[in-house]
Formats: sequence, C-alpha cells, structure tokens
Amino acid sequence: MRNMMFAIMLGTAAGMAQAAPPLGLPPVPVPADNPQNPAKVRLGEKLFHDKRFSSTGEVSCATCHQREKVFTDSPLRVSRGIRGLTGTRNAPTVVNAAYMHTLFWDGREPDLEGQAGQPFLNPVEMGLKNYDPILEVVRSDRQYRKLFKQAFGLEPKQITMRHVVQAIASFERTLVSGDSPFDRWYFGGDEKAMSEQAKRGFKVFLGKGRCVSCHTISQTHALFTDNRFHNLNVGFARIDKDVRELAVAFMQARKKGTSVDVAVLSNKNTSELGRFAVTGEWRDMGAFKTPTLRNVARTAPYMHDGSLETLEDVVNFYDKGGRVEDDDPVNAFQSGGIRPLNLSDDEKADLVAFLEALTSPEYAKK
Ligand code: HEC
Ligand code: HEC
Repeated sequence: MRNMMFAIMLGTAAGMAQAAPPLGLPPVPVPADNPQNPAKVRLGEKLFHDKRFSSTGEVSCATCHQREKVFTDSPLRVSRGIRGLTGTRNAPTVVNAAYMHTLFWDGREPDLEGQAGQPFLNPVEMGLKNYDPILEVVRSDRQYRKLFKQAFGLEPKQITMRHVVQAIASFERTLVSGDSPFDRWYFGGDEKAMSEQAKRGFKVFLGKGRCVSCHTISQTHALFTDNRFHNLNVGFARIDKDVRELAVAFMQARKKGTSVDVAVLSNKNTSELGRFAVTGEWRDMGAFKTPTLRNVARTAPYMHDGSLETLEDVVNFYDKGGRVEDDDPVNAFQSGGIRPLNLSDDEKADLVAFLEALTSPEYAKK
C-alpha cells in the first residue's frame, strides 16, 4: 500500500512535468524503464557536475555543457577535455536533447542513457580507463548513497553504471526550454512578442530559404530538427580526395573492434565520415544530424566542427549552396536540398533576426 502511494505520487510528479511542457514544445518522452522522480533528477544533476569522474579530476560533463552557455562550451570551436586535449567536434547543447531520436552529431547513440556512458571513457574527454572509479565514489560517498537510495531504492553495493546513466538522463530530461519570442507569437498568438523583422525572416525560413524542410516545425510545436542526417559540405573537403580509402580502412578497423566514439573524436578525418561511420552506408557519407535551432544565438560557433563563427556566416554558407567562398568545391554526397538561394542582404538579415528570436527567457542575455 505504501509502495503504491509512493508510485502514484511519483506518477503525478512525472505526469505533471509532462502535461505542461513549455510553449512550443511537445511532452518530453520518458522511457518506461526510467521514470522521472525528483530524487533521481537531483542525483543526475550532481553526477553531471562531478569532476571526480575524470582521470585528472579536472573535467565533468558540465565543463563542456555549462548552464550559462545553454549547456555548451561556447565560444570553443571544438571541445577541450582532460589536460587541454581537444576533440574534433563542437559541443551541441543538451537543452532539448531529450527530444532527439538519436544522440551525437552522427546519431551513434540511441538515447540519453547510452550517450551518458561514453564521455567518461573517451581519452580526449574524461579519460577514465574503465568505470570502476565512478562506482567507487558513488558507493562510498555519503550524499550519493542517500540519493541513490531515494532515487532507486538501492543499497550501495547494488549501484551499477546503468543507474548512473539513468540518473544523468533523468536530469537531462528536465532541461527543456521553449517559450521564445517566436513561440509566444506563433503558438501563443501574441503579435507583439516577435519583431517585424523576425516575422519577415520566418517567411524566408519557410519559403525562399527552404530551411524548414530540415529544421521542421509542426502545428503544435517546433523542434527545428527532422532527426535526419544530411551532408551540407561542412568540412568535407578535408577527406573528399581520399574518401574511398578512408571509408574502407575505417570499416575494417570497426570490424576489428575500434570504438566509433573514440575514433571520431580523436581523428579529424574519421570525424568527417559523419553518419557513415555508424551505418556504413554510402548515402550517409559526410552526413550529420540536423541540430535544433532553439537558443542558437547563444551557442556560437556553429556546425559539427564549429567552423562557422556567426549566424551571418551560417546564412551566407546556405546562400552560397554549402560554400564559404564562391569557388569552394561541393561534393558528390551533398544533400540535394542545399542549393544557392540568391537571398538579398535584407532577407539574410531578416533570417538572422528570426534565429535570434528562438532564445528562451532563461537563456536570454541578462
Ligand atoms: C570534453 C568536453 C565534453 C565532455 C566532458 C562531455 N561532453 Fe557531451 N558532448 C561534447 C561534444 C564535443 C559532443 C558532440 C560529439 C559528437 O557528436 O561526436 C557532445 C555531445 C553530447 C550530447 C548529444 C547532444 C545531441 O544533440 O546529440 C549530450 C546529450 C551530451 N554530450 C551530454 C554529456 C554528458 C551527460 C556528459 C558527462 C557524462 C558529457 N556530455 C561530457 C563535449 C563534451
Ligand atoms: C538539407 C537539410 C537542411 C536545410 C535545408 C537547412 N539546414 Fe541548417 N542544418 C542542417 C544540418 C544537417 C546541420 C548540421 C550540419 C553539419 O554540422 O555538418 C545544420 C546546421 C545549421 C545551423 C547550425 C546550428 C548549430 O548549432 O551549430 C544553423 C544556424 C542552421 N542550420 C540554420 C539553417 C537555416 C537558416 C537554413 C535555411 C537557410 C537551414 N539551416 C537549412 C540541415 C539543414
């Protein structure tokens, strides 16, 4: 009976969080085997900030995903882990990652739980040899012992990495943010919530710019991602000439047990294989996941390699059909949806104003 009441109370707490997502967002999907509860979220937040889970004690998840930077490490181009080691990719925001169908730029993990286990062991991120140091800390630290008991009803000896990543994922599922000027205008019907320039930019976003074909929105909400993978010609010139040799060599290494997570973050060429490194399908060559555009004005620089510095640069890149300079090469795997747009200077500025209207109040510049 007491257990049942407990379940009902938790059910209500989780259910309420889901019944009222922020304006512009759908309910957060929660896996059946990892229901939300307040203690688990608190535990996840503590784990997310714990530097003891890196080999040098310097780095936590929050080092690269800082709240005041919309859970990124802006303005770094690529992330910096233990001993200042750099990876190959720009840190995406964790805000609204709860809605993603796959995680990482190449979608190599299916859910937040799977994602959360990777950085601890990556040699350029947190650098642990195995998970033992984490389990030692959480099984002996008094506060952790209490929180694991409250969150999962576990005795210290029963705690496993499965519980650790479940708690981190539960915390991340609370990092949802909508209610931007765009949301208040488009979904909330407040004509004054968004500027006239941003409204014109939204027209370009839907029409001439064709942005919405990948950064999708629906009748009731806007995630600004189709959860698919596209080759935009970002960074691909690095491998275009040797792409077949590189692809074959990588697939052989993968068969022999090379970790995709380690390979793509420690080798700049391997990184550019994009989704191909996960599926081995040629149509996925150099393709990366469409990121959300929410809060994008606060998370420069942009793209999987952080190669574009400003939103103006991004818009110019699309306007030139996936090129930084007019005479840059395109590639054979590039998405058919990326073609020169012939936008006027006003249309480009309007589009940037629209992107700037996607910032949620909690991440707006104070
Ligand atoms: C050294 C910096 C660094 C650390 C430490 C780090 N991350 Fe990340 N994070 C990144 C980078 C870079 C990526 C993108 C990598 C890729 O896509 O290949 C990423 C991707 C992610 C994503 C995927 C977002 C999406 O839209 O696909 C999530 C979620 C995430 N990290 C959470 C975490 C958690 C949880 C931890 C701690 C266990 C952590 N990160 C530790 C840099 C870091
Ligand atoms: C064919 C699908 C597609 C279309 C069309 C498209 N995008 Fe993207 N967008 C993506 C993908 C995929 C990425 C990441 C590419 C990469 O890093 O290699 C991206 C990245 C971005 C980024 C960087 C976000 C970040 O966090 O780094 C911005 C901003 C952006 N797009 C805005 C736009 C705008 C504005 C338009 C219309 C002019 C547009 N997109 C059209 C798929 C698309």
